[in-house]
Amino acid sequence: MLDSIYEFLARLGYAHPIHPTEVHMPIGLVVGAFIFAWIALLFQRPKLAQTAYHCIVLAFIWLFPTVLFGVMDWQHYYAGAMPFPIKIKLILAPVLLVLLAGAVLLGRGRGAESKAVLTSYGLCFLVVVVLGYFGGQLVYGIQGPSLPDELKAGARLFSAHCSSCHPQGGNVINPDLPLKGSPQLVDPNVFVAFIRNPKMPDGSAGSMPAFPSAQISDREAESLYEYIVQTMGYPTRK
Ligand code: HEC
Repeated sequence: MLDSIYEFLARLGYAHPIHPTEVHMPIGLVVGAFIFAWIALLFQRPKLAQTAYHCIVLAFIWLFPTVLFGVMDWQHYYAGAMPFPIKIKLILAPVLLVLLAGAVLLGRGRGAESKAVLTSYGLCFLVVVVLGYFGGQLVYGIQGPSLPDELKAGARLFSAHCSSCHPQGGNVINPDLPLKGSPQLVDPNVFVAFIRNPKMPDGSAGSMPAFPSAQISDREAESLYEYIVQTMGYPTRK
């Protein structure tokens, strides 16, 4: 059932997760509500307090399809795996739902001068920012020069064994099968099994060399896995 939805979309030319496309709606509406409420208070524009309230109501309504698409994408693209950013999202999505419901109830008929209303919009804003941050981490991984210490061993293994063929997560031999976004990254066990015995997606032999445990131990393979998913993101293909 779920697969047929994604197959249908792919036939229309839409071949990636749905949640990132429409998550901008609730994010934008919460940010809008927060900004309008502050302008209403600071510049004495009560009408803008109403605008803020309407944004919050729409954000609340839109949260339902957003969570639904998030769960669908999670099942389809991540096979329900539980990497850290997903755990955070599963906790914070219900928190946001409760906060938005509270904001909708509180804001009814109250002006922007109400501190309670402003606080509740502010809390929604904070949660939306954190959710967005972890969404970004899922898609892009941790980037930039400030690599945390625990990823440094993995980074060394990557430069020693993988980066010649997979620079920046690409694939110089077979550009259609980049490392970044690969379904083999769904969890450490799938990943380790793959590098011990690499195959093409159809199961036939390809040209990636195998890395037996004499070359990369199980522990090393796990730190390599952490480095790859934290810096390049989790799977985006199936
Ligand atoms: C000599 C080049 C080469 C090296 C070195 C190499 N790979 Fe690959 N890799 C490939 C090729 C080519 C493919 C495509 C499948 C095939 O032909 O076997 C691939 C495919 C993959 C895939 C699956 C992509 C997909 O979605 O199907 C993963 C994951 C991967 N490599 C991880 C690694 C890791 C981790 C290392 C280092 C331990 C590594 N590779 C080292 C060439 C290489």
